[in-house]
Amino acid sequence: MLLNSDDFRREAQRQLPKFVFDYVDGAAEDGHCLRRNRSDLDALTLTPRVLRDTTAVDTSVEIFGARWKVPFGIAPMGLNGLIRPGGDGILAMAAERAGAAFALSTASNMRLEDVRAAAQNGVQWMQLYVMHREMAQRIVQRAQRAGYQALVLTVDVPVSGYRELDVRNGFRMPFKPTARLVWDLLTHPRWALSSALAGVPDFVNLTADGEAAGSASMQAALLARAMDRSLVWETLAWLRDHWHGPLLLKGVLSAQDAQLALRYGVDGVIVSNHGGRQLDASPSAISALPAVVNAVQGRMPVFMDSGIRRGSHVAKALALGATAVFVGRPVLFGLAARGPAGVEAVLKALTDELVRTMTLLGAPSLADLRRMQGELGEVSAASTARETRSAVPAPSEVS
Ligand SMILES: Cc1cc2nc3c(=O)[nH]c(=O)nc-3n(C[C@H](O)[C@H](O)[C@H](O)COP(=O)(O)O)c2cc1C
Repeated sequence: MLLNSDDFRREAQRQLPKFVFDYVDGAAEDGHCLRRNRSDLDALTLTPRVLRDTTAVDTSVEIFGARWKVPFGIAPMGLNGLIRPGGDGILAMAAERAGAAFALSTASNMRLEDVRAAAQNGVQWMQLYVMHREMAQRIVQRAQRAGYQALVLTVDVPVSGYRELDVRNGFRMPFKPTARLVWDLLTHPRWALSSALAGVPDFVNLTADGEAAGSASMQAALLARAMDRSLVWETLAWLRDHWHGPLLLKGVLSAQDAQLALRYGVDGVIVSNHGGRQLDASPSAISALPAVVNAVQGRMPVFMDSGIRRGSHVAKALALGATAVFVGRPVLFGLAARGPAGVEAVLKALTDELVRTMTLLGAPSLADLRRMQGELGEVSAASTARETRSAVPAPSEVS
């Protein structure tokens, strides 16, 4: 029975070739950061309040003038076409139906205009990797024209994290078949056939209007994530010249960087360690959240991703001050396991879990949930090991 994110993960593992599953599920180096993301979230507790009216539970939130039905969105992820042909569009449409936001990766396999058109009424943000400024500029202008509502600049990938599973599996572009990869494909005929029919997924956003395909060097740069490492705070002014809307930074973990983001006129930050795929020594995202929230003092929204697997995880992040969160791998597991119905089921499970958690907590609105840290109830890691307590500083401990 597929009830929760972990169930969908197991089913995705059954259905995907090993090299694809490992690409999605894997993390940098030893996977410490990946595990910390989850265990720190699990270790937090929420103290319920009783005898409160929870007849109507409202999970909606207004962000940059748009109403989200649920306080979470789908994180930007590249190469979704590898999991299932048309993956980007399937995710965007499922998010629209669930009232969740959707962030499209620069490394998507469907053109950003087509994804926007597929879910016209949804909240859609565009994620940006800067490899070459001219190319980035073009993507930003196209995203603006297509009607994306916010731009998310990912800042935690000056260089790609070392994903040893991908190296061991021989997963690289252009795809070079080895005996092991061929065996992997033969033992997953359904995936192999549908992928063969759809063709190798391309990084289509790197294509200039009218060009047939993204240039080979750009494609290689994107997969190797060879970023423009000269990008600094002052460079944000250049982006501002081309993007007229909310600008967010994704991958902020320090309070000092959050303060710099404010100083440089950024409109929001996403506290994230890229799902443990970049710096394995990073703190968990949930443990970094309180200091960032404290640093910005409500002057801009603070989002969080990395490790969210349950509705109760969403509730914990909101109780610690996040405006909303993003979910990565679970929706890809849903996509792999059951296609559109799988993504829908994962989003529904998260929503149902969140509603049930809020009801059990006596917190019928997100404002009530945010007050958990104060007079309403308590979010704490006190019942678990000292290790976790130090990982999640109470706001008063944060300088
Ligand atoms: C397969 C995969 C591809 C990703 N591609 C991108 C990307 O293109 N751009 C980006 O900013 N983040 C990317 N991420 C990171 C996610 O946006 C997000 O930070 C992370 O998945 C959240 O952690 P979670 O998977 O534990 O929920 C990717 C993550 C995964 C799993």
